[in-house]
Amino acid sequence: MTKTSKNNNEILNIGTLCKSGQSYTVKLLDANCLDEIMALQQKIIDSLPDDQKSFILPKSQEFFENHFKRGANTMIGIYCGGELIAQSIVLNPNAAHPETGMVDMELVDTPETLSIIEGVLVDPAYRGNRLMEEMVGHWIDFAEQIGRKHVIAEIAIDNPYSWGVFLDKGLALHSTGTDPDDGTELYNAHESIANIRSKQLSGVFNHYAEKKHCDAHDIDTQKELLNQGFKGVAYDRKSKKLTMAK
Ligand SMILES: CC(C)(COP(=O)(O)OP(=O)(O)OC[C@H]1O[C@@H](n2cnc3c(N)ncnc32)[C@H](O)[C@@H]1OP(=O)(O)O)[C@@H](O)C(=O)NCCC(=O)NCCS
Repeated sequence: MTKTSKNNNEILNIGTLCKSGQSYTVKLLDANCLDEIMALQQKIIDSLPDDQKSFILPKSQEFFENHFKRGANTMIGIYCGGELIAQSIVLNPNAAHPETGMVDMELVDTPETLSIIEGVLVDPAYRGNRLMEEMVGHWIDFAEQIGRKHVIAEIAIDNPYSWGVFLDKGLALHSTGTDPDDGTELYNAHESIANIRSKQLSGVFNHYAEKKHCDAHDIDTQKELLNQGFKGVAYDRKSKKLTMAK
């Protein structure tokens, strides 16, 4: 059955941190969590080295207040010991608010069919527990439950910690773009939820007929392959090779 509304603070999962063995809870966040959301965002901004500041676009309190007032928008949060340690903004555009927040990506379909994740943040003390993977998984499930067809995100090209997780979860690097505000080069990640489910069943590599490998830093080759209809579909963190496929 398609879900038409969300339950605020609904518990999505209870898990165990792989590094410390502590238990964590994944929940939907709402406007009552604003102080925690702002505090975690600030903590992460303060922790980012200068060459990584462009990985996130800090949001104002007003942004979050408006976000929660609009349609099926939500946020996913992870708590450990009563403290918010990770959060993601989930934007589900509607007719009244069709904006997607994507700075340089052509629409793949009408806004009402899309779900976008942004502001994915994990407290540095808790990194390496695959918490982003956990949030991205719940986002895709949530988008599917409310009847969305596509999931979309934009990520700085220099941030393999983030785009590697999107590829692990079945999205593909669909195109590149540039943030007009600060010139940051971006990947636009996209996949239809139907294709994500099919990749889960068949495996990513069986899903595509033709594959090529290229260096993750070799953006020129990647752009050439994107123009030929290839997409970035898998990342080998050891060899730093990106698999492009179509
Ligand atoms: C991107 C991010 C959410 C991923 O966090 P995560 O879910 O904890 O990452 P993972 O569990 O997949 O990490 C896997 C490995 O990469 C390391 N890692 C993750 N993010 C890292 C970072 N920013 N810098 C250095 N190492 C990092 C982890 O320590 C871990 O190493 P280990 O296996 O040796 O312990 C997190 O790095 C973050 O909050 N970054 C700052 C904000 C950001 O870039 N957000 C994405 C915007 S699109």
